Amino acid sequence: MPRAVVLVRHPEGAVTEADFGIVELPDAPCPAGYFRTRNRVISLDAGFRQWMTAGAGDNYLTGMQIGDPVQSIVLGEVTESRHPDYPVGTLVSARTAWEECSLLDGSDLCSPLAVSPEIPLYQYMGVLGPTGMTAWVGLFKIGQPLAGETVVVSAAGGAVGTVVGQLAKAEGCRVIGLTSSRSKADWLEQTVGYDSVIDRETQPDLASALKAAAPEGIDIFFDNVGGEALDTAMGQLREQARLVLCGAISQYESAIQPLTNSWELITKRARMEGFMFSDYFDSFPEIAADLQRRLQDGQLKSFDALYEGIEQTPRAFCDMMHGASRGKCLVVLD
Ligand SMILES: NC(=O)c1ccc[n+]([C@@H]2O[C@H](COP(=O)([O-])OP(=O)(O)OC[C@H]3O[C@@H](n4cnc5c(N)ncnc54)[C@H](OP(=O)(O)O)[C@@H]3O)[C@@H](O)[C@H]2O)c1
Repeated sequence: MPRAVVLVRHPEGAVTEADFGIVELPDAPCPAGYFRTRNRVISLDAGFRQWMTAGAGDNYLTGMQIGDPVQSIVLGEVTESRHPDYPVGTLVSARTAWEECSLLDGSDLCSPLAVSPEIPLYQYMGVLGPTGMTAWVGLFKIGQPLAGETVVVSAAGGAVGTVVGQLAKAEGCRVIGLTSSRSKADWLEQTVGYDSVIDRETQPDLASALKAAAPEGIDIFFDNVGGEALDTAMGQLREQARLVLCGAISQYESAIQPLTNSWELITKRARMEGFMFSDYFDSFPEIAADLQRRLQDGQLKSFDALYEGIEQTPRAFCDMMHGASRGKCLVVLD
């Protein structure tokens, strides 16, 4: 029987593996207008932590309920179909759940995927999937970088951060990362290509470290973490700076931090804008083509932390949330 990972309790504070359980999926017929997938790759995305909290739910997604399979973006292969647009054998990307097979109707960020046999399938859930789209949309549509500008990226060693850093570097920007440990910072500088990286382990005074790394100030702050990092960056902007609000992971498992430097946005004529990658769903084919070209040119590299088997999903998610993995965290099911 195919299995799924369900929420057994709402996480309080740091999410743990004990917040999840594995169940067998009941047999369900495939109704007209639906198709069934055998899932091949699960994408672990930090943002879903927001909707695991008790009482969560907003204009974007409903909160997850106890006993429900955990929401996620998944790559699957159609094995049974009563939907004209998704014949058997089609590969699809969709927002579904941590489960080995799904019953879908083609809605909820669902689209067929054309894949190249030269590219590992899992990369279509990472650099060529929602992660790459998020980095691309946030940097190019919201940040709009110019050569020579200074770009600072928080959670630089994660899925979105490793892609943003490489894209900004390719635009001729000076790219500074923020991360948790010195070993991750060294990897980001030596392997991913960041010009310099500030780590919380050996440089706890972020304001001084940022001043030393970007003495002229920040042109673009690509923010994945919110809270203190965002507030500190707000105090060190150049004129016409752009703050790209992609995520706020430092706030997902702890109390919301107040922001105190908003006055700087006024005097620096800065723009701060949030976005959801899904707003650009219709542009995905062109964005994916651009990312694939960069990947094949060698301008972009894919950094992935791979886990195998549905039972590894809770561990993979906790590792990703708490900085134990590097690059894109994925679970491969076959
Ligand atoms: N707006 C959108 O459409 C969209 C789409 C996808 C993702 N996102 C957001 O983008 C961000 C990155 O998501 P992802 O899925 O790519 O995850 P990720 O960056 O691969 O993993 C999360 C990373 O955040 C860092 N982190 C964890 N707790 C932190 C804390 N308290 N303070 C500072 N950093 C912390 C850790 O990296 P270090 O070890 O480097 O600290 C961790 O590895 C998330 O905020 C997510 O919600 C937004």
